[in-house]
Amino acid sequence: NSVDQGIFQWSAPSNIALVKYWGKKENQIPANPSVSFTLNNCKTNTKLAFAKKADRNYFSFDLLFEGQPKEDFKPKIQKFFERVEIYLPFLKEYHFTIDTENTFPHSSGIASSASGMAALAMNLMSLEKALNPLMTDDYFYQKASLLARLGSGSACRSIKGQVVVWGTHQNITGSSNLFGVEFPNTIHENFTDYQDTILLVDKGEKQVSSTVGHELMHDHPFAERRFAQAHENLDKLITIFKTGDLEEFIKVVESEALTLHAMMMTSMPYFILMKPNTLEIINAIWKFRKATKIPVCFTLDAGANVHVLYPNKDKEKVLQFIQNELVGYCQNGQYLCDQIGNGAALI
Ligand code: PMV
Repeated sequence: NSVDQGIFQWSAPSNIALVKYWGKKENQIPANPSVSFTLNNCKTNTKLAFAKKADRNYFSFDLLFEGQPKEDFKPKIQKFFERVEIYLPFLKEYHFTIDTENTFPHSSGIASSASGMAALAMNLMSLEKALNPLMTDDYFYQKASLLARLGSGSACRSIKGQVVVWGTHQNITGSSNLFGVEFPNTIHENFTDYQDTILLVDKGEKQVSSTVGHELMHDHPFAERRFAQAHENLDKLITIFKTGDLEEFIKVVESEALTLHAMMMTSMPYFILMKPNTLEIINAIWKFRKATKIPVCFTLDAGANVHVLYPNKDKEKVLQFIQNELVGYCQNGQYLCDQIGNGAALI
């Protein structure tokens, strides 16, 4: 089957981990299982144009970010192509133009590696499907997640929605270290349209890249206990997703966020990735929750920004609280409203 040229276009969302992935082995194999909410609004849209080329001895691609050539992303894509070539043996037969844009401001400090790598992986799978039309949907999505993982670990959780598990866990059927899978059980209605408002506390360059961060877990004094704890927390979430117990949900999610930061504070070298305003926000959330009994909680990535998580039915009150009391802690008053979503989509 010969496919000489064409264009595909996919969007893929970001995701926010509830149980965090922090620490990995060879080949982007996670040291512990993680679980995330797929987001809906924070997305990367990527257009992949491809054309057959004569010389098949090298990878050939141009990269455009928001319509402009982007040389500094190229080494990452080159490395990605090298890693996935064994799974996509046709890569060197084509010249690619990768045209990509994010729906969130690029200076927001929101990592676009998850959504970006997931969108690219979907496009490459569309080309593979054009070459091998008989593949099943299951194979298509599973392999897209596997490819995304090789681009950036957490990207494998951005292919599907709404709750995705990555990493082998004894009580989650079908879970794998190689790709993300949809959480297999029915999820309680308390989590329907769950909200994530992302408070942009510090939009600067990441102090610690996730590559360096994962490496810090190698000789980390608490690593083994932490990896075991992630399994325990995932077990707790299995129950929580069944019962809808938001009080327990809050405990697991906030503890995971603080543990992620605790790992960075106790590694060698050590880092503090929160800013004073991160702590101000956490304290304000705790105070608001105590006063109103509204089950709002926070989680954090490997940075200072705060994800505020809450049920859809409390949206009005929480947004009012955010506007009145939290916006002042955000850089230029910036925040992004998002919610749980369904994963990558063909455009
Ligand atoms: O996908 P990476 O290698 O950028 O790692 C991301 C790690 C965290 O965002 C901090 C946690 C997670 O599980 O998403």
